[in-house]
Parts: sequence; C-alpha cells; structure tokens
Amino acid sequence: MHLTQLDAAPLALVMVGLPARGKTYLARKIQRYLSWLGYRTHGFNVGDYRRRRLGAKQPHDFFDPDNPAGAALRREVAMEALQAMLDWFEEGGNVGIYDATNSTHARRQAVYERCHTAGVRVIFIESICDRTVVEQNVRETKLRSPDYADFEPERAVEDFRKRIAHYERSYETLADPEKSYVKIIDVGRQVVINRIEGYLPARLISFLMNVHNTRRPIWLTRHGEAEFNVRGTIGGDSPLSPAGEQYAHSLAQFLSERIADGEEVTVWTSALRRTIQTAEQLPTETSAWRALNEIDAGICDGMTYDQIKTRHPVEFAARQNDKFRYRYPQGESYADVIQRVEPIIVELERQRRPVMLIVHQAVARVLYGYLMGLPQEECPHIAIPLHTVVQLTPNAYGYEEQLFPLEPDLGAARSSSSS
Ligand code: SIN
Repeated sequence: MHLTQLDAAPLALVMVGLPARGKTYLARKIQRYLSWLGYRTHGFNVGDYRRRRLGAKQPHDFFDPDNPAGAALRREVAMEALQAMLDWFEEGGNVGIYDATNSTHARRQAVYERCHTAGVRVIFIESICDRTVVEQNVRETKLRSPDYADFEPERAVEDFRKRIAHYERSYETLADPEKSYVKIIDVGRQVVINRIEGYLPARLISFLMNVHNTRRPIWLTRHGEAEFNVRGTIGGDSPLSPAGEQYAHSLAQFLSERIADGEEVTVWTSALRRTIQTAEQLPTETSAWRALNEIDAGICDGMTYDQIKTRHPVEFAARQNDKFRYRYPQGESYADVIQRVEPIIVELERQRRPVMLIVHQAVARVLYGYLMGLPQEECPHIAIPLHTVVQLTPNAYGYEEQLFPLEPDLGAARSSSSS
C-alpha cells in the first residue's frame, strides 16, 4: 500500500518497557493489524539481533548497566537493529516496529535523533504492567526463549528476574512532553496519550486501547448451506436449505458442549438471513452487523460463476487475474471488505468473553487472515469449508487452530467455491 498524503512519512513505533511487559505481544498485534490494513509493516526485535550476533544464553549480568563490556555490546546490537529498520524504510517500508526495552531517556533520544534525521516519524509505545502480568509473561514466554533453551525452569525464572532487576535500576518512564507517545498501563486499564496526531496514529491508538491479554477462544464459521449455495449462485439473501438448518442445530450443540452453564459468549452474525438463521438455535443472544455482510458482488449478484464468465468475460478474467483487488462493478473487492470489517476487528479485540462469528466466505477469509497474521493478498485464497467450525485458541503470541467439521457434510463440496 502507498501511504496516503496524510501519512506521507514512514513511521517508527518504538517500544518501551522493562523485560516481560508484553512489548513483543503488542508489537506482533500491531504488525498483524497494520499489515492486514495494507501498510508495509515489519518488526525489528533487538533480542533477535543480539542472539544472531552473539548467540543465545547471555547470563543476567550481561544486562547489568554497570557491566561496561555488556553495555557496549548491547548498544551496538541495538544500533544494528535500528539501522536495519532505517534501511528497510529506504526500500519502501511504511511502519517499522522497533521492539526493545529502550528503557532510558538517553537510548530513546539516540533512536529518535537517527529516525528524525532519516525523515522518519517516531511514536513511543510504553507498556507498564503489574507483577501478576509480569510473572505470567515470564513463565509463558521467557521460559520458551532460546536464551533459556537448556535451563531448568526455576533457574531460568531466577536468571530472568535478575535481568529485570538490572533494567529496573536504570529505567526511566516516558515523560518528554515534546515527543509523541502512548503509555499503556496494566494492559489498557489506563492509557496516556501525548502529542498523537494524524490518521494512522489515531487508528492505531484506538486499536491499542482495546487490546488485552485475556485468553478466550474464537469460533469462526460460515453460515449453514443456503438455497443460493444449492443453486450455485453468489450473493443474494436466501434462507438456509434443509442441510443448512441441520448445521444450525449441530452448531448449537457444538457451542453448548464448550461453554459452562451461564457462561456468556459473544455471537455476531451478518445482517443477512443465512447467518441469522444459522445462529437461531444457539443458547445465547446474538448481534447482527451489516459490516459482516458478504462481499457485494454488484452486477454479478445472483449469478452463477458460469453465467458471469459468459455474460461478463472481461470481469471474470480480471477477477481471476487479481482476486484481492478486483472490484465487482457496483460492488466490492476483498480490499474493500477489509476496510469495511476493520471496526469489527477493534471490537473483537475488546471482547473478553469467548466469541463466535457466523459469517460468509469472503468475510471469514479476511477475519481468519487477520487473526492468523496472513498477508492481505492471501485472503481470497484461504479455504474455509462450509459446515466447519474453525476454533482459534490463543497462545503466547497468536492462535492455535483446530477444525471441527460438523454434520451434515452434504453440500459442503458443492458450495465451498463461492465468493
Ligand atoms: C535483548 O537483548 O534481549 C533486548 C535488549 C534490550 O532491548 O534492551
């Protein structure tokens, strides 16, 4: 994507925070979100540069600010990663995420000056968390780090705590009123914003204000088979077929088996009949969003693919050629669908309960693409079979996926190629 006039300069998001404050978790979330929106976004993790240059397994005293040899090497590696980000901007990158502790004013000033000289805007993003979150982060992510590959868990935790203590001695929170920054305190309980302006930064802040680390499953499914699926026509607003009705029943059973009595679940459908009917037997309230409606096929709505090929051969070929950007006349492209669905993503991030999304093929593809961090252009080609629940369970930095094909499977094959 080319940045709009409003977002003309490349943007560096510079993470700030003590170790185990969820910086990398946030950095990866931001990367997935902005890449999905079409910005060329890349993360530069200074820990990875250290491991590449010096090998893993530096003991805690390497990070002691009173260890001059360690401090010099850490600075060198930090500057190497920074230079890599600046080089990447030269090659056309839009948003670079500089993922490091950047825990002192002096280090941040050095990063700021080099970015500023290169014409790169800087926003600092600081994460401050209480002890419980830190303890959870240490056990869930740091024990799996290559730094502790051969360590007994308790020895790894002890070494990592000492590493944190070294950083704590010299840590300085963001306080420069001239700089653009966001402070996220206790995973969004409080957010402090300073000198943030412009379209992309504002969009990013709204995203960050809704991100949290509560783990909850997401179930993603297409609606049950609809009458238009049986006829092989796209679009429309047809009701479910008998097989689709059966899927609605199986889906209700699936959900009941996975939630405790009285447990609240967020269920969203589109505003079209086939998704609303698929949700009708669920033991929970549902909300219908127009933003989750199927891709608008414009003048091709209600046709089979063979009819489109015969009546609109130029359109058919153009879509084959670039399915992501192709826009149906008077309708939408996949790129348009991403922009339409974006507010749902922010709302989805905000949910702390389990979420079930009952949608359509194109919308399921873009939602799945976002959640799994896939490049935008892959979205139109993701297989999301009919009558199957995609269960996404959060892990340290993303989601694990499990597919649940539910009875009946008749109709799945004939309907899976639509949209
Ligand atoms: C690391 O080497 O793991 C991170 C260095 C830093 O960000 O301070």
